Amino acid sequence: MTATDVRPGPDAEAMAAAVAAAIRTLDANIDSFADRYPADTTVDNRYPLRPPTAGQPSGANVGWTTSFWPGMLWLAHDLTGDDRYQRAAMSHVRSFATRVARGIDLDTHDLGFLYTLSCVIPARRTGDPRARAAALAAADHLMTRVLEPAGIIQAWGDLDDPRQRGRTIIDSLMNTPLLFWASQTTGDGRYASAARRHSAQLRRHILRPDGTTFHTFYWDPETGAALRGETEQGHADHSCWARGQAWGIYGFSLNHRYTGESGLLAAARTCADRFLARLPADHVAYWDLEFGDGSRQDRDSSAAAIAACGLVELADNLTDADVAHRYRSAAGRILRSLADGYATDGGPASNALILHGVYDKPKGIGVDEGNLWGDYFYLEALTRATIPDWTSPW
Ligand code: GLY
Repeated sequence: MTATDVRPGPDAEAMAAAVAAAIRTLDANIDSFADRYPADTTVDNRYPLRPPTAGQPSGANVGWTTSFWPGMLWLAHDLTGDDRYQRAAMSHVRSFATRVARGIDLDTHDLGFLYTLSCVIPARRTGDPRARAAALAAADHLMTRVLEPAGIIQAWGDLDDPRQRGRTIIDSLMNTPLLFWASQTTGDGRYASAARRHSAQLRRHILRPDGTTFHTFYWDPETGAALRGETEQGHADHSCWARGQAWGIYGFSLNHRYTGESGLLAAARTCADRFLARLPADHVAYWDLEFGDGSRQDRDSSAAAIAACGLVELADNLTDADVAHRYRSAAGRILRSLADGYATDGGPASNALILHGVYDKPKGIGVDEGNLWGDYFYLEALTRATIPDWTSPW
């Protein structure tokens, strides 16, 4: 056996302890949240119930992050084999089916995040017809956001909103797996073709020549011309928002997995190399890659969790074993640092899995708090580390 035959990474005992702590927290959250939804981020390290918004009561299924809750329950099922978690995850299908049927808060590209974890997983694993129909309805809705002639999926807001029209964002690369699944399950190639065009546009324009990424990018909705990059959650238009770069690692890798296009794999590697080159001593990125140790800025543990998953996905796509080993080792170091320094202990002090994330620093939202996507991707990274033949939902 050579070094490249060994899956490097955190040691098994530490990972088992980290999984056990996470499962304790999820068990308590099943009791407190059940079929309702926690807020996007913690407040003083605890998730409250999702606040009432858009005519919906508190705990309702609105916003872009609700599916991370059933997503974590599916991961808990994978990690423990306990059917209780599958039953808890399945109990969310009705809410997501209702949301898409009634058109509740659907003006977003995040239908991919929302319906991949909540409905594609049960459709694939149990054949549940209601989950499949809801996920397909979400994919159809996502297709209404494809703008011609640019061939991009508008990220945010109403399609007629002048501030948002023609704009997409790097996170959108995580939403295209819903479209690839829709083509696979229906045999209708339109969904995959839209996803392919969208990811090609991002590779050309949202990835900068120096290997960093813009958070958001505008295309002219009439001519399709590529216009300009801007940030929304990063430090500055010219800087590199850490979570965006992590979405790039994972998103370009996933889009390569579905298309086989070598340019997407190269883009994922570029994002990874740039991200890793900017990591501080403890391997958990500051919220913008502009910042390093000594900057007194906040970390974004969620960017680290996403990168830990994306680097393993990238490694799985590579044929060069030495290069793959390098990315897996980096993922292992990030995950170990999260488990040792950012994870909660499964006790009552916090109901999040990891702390010290940043949602939106410029707007002061969820700064130095836990967040649902950070928790989900931390648990996914633990799952990838402990179940080598784990089947990804993406
Ligand atoms: N996808 C939204 C975010 O990463 O904040």
